[in-house]
Amino acid sequence: MKRCDLLVDAGRRRFLSGAGVAAAGAAAATVIPSVPAKAAVPAARVTYPSTRLGNVKDLKLNQPVGVAYPDAEAPGVLLKLGKRVPGGAGPDGDIVGFSTICPHKGYPLAYSADRRTLNCPGHYSVFDCEAGGQETWGHATQNLPQYSLRVDQKGDIFAEGLDELLYGRLSNVL
Ligand code: FES
Repeated sequence: MKRCDLLVDAGRRRFLSGAGVAAAGAAAATVIPSVPAKAAVPAARVTYPSTRLGNVKDLKLNQPVGVAYPDAEAPGVLLKLGKRVPGGAGPDGDIVGFSTICPHKGYPLAYSADRRTLNCPGHYSVFDCEAGGQETWGHATQNLPQYSLRVDQKGDIFAEGLDELLYGRLSNVL
């Protein structure tokens, strides 16, 4: 036992000697680069298409109209809610658009005209269309993507962006 303790002690001393310190310094030199690396920052900006989705004359109060944005694989809905709401466009600020793919697991959403919500049959998430697609119940970890809408002088409705990431996408424009 005594011999073993001595060997351990000798090993410590050897490590702390010049050879040991030099070895530790060499190891550190391989870890810390002498020239600071420049971080590559990818561009995060997404360019959205401006897409005509319909005309204000196509909309009836509280009746959903099916659309797709930003491409044909992304179903959505236009709604005229009859009162000014967050994100609302048009002369009365009451026209809104949303993705109809649930941000939780991608189930298709159904509109409830009574509650003015988009509801998920998968795990029962509920999104409030009068509150910018805010999730008011359920499993989703984000609100429903809402369209950025513009209405021109002829009443044509254009979608020009989204405020959340569409389900299943790495960016909203493929
Ligand atoms: Fe909609 Fe799960 S897929 S709540």
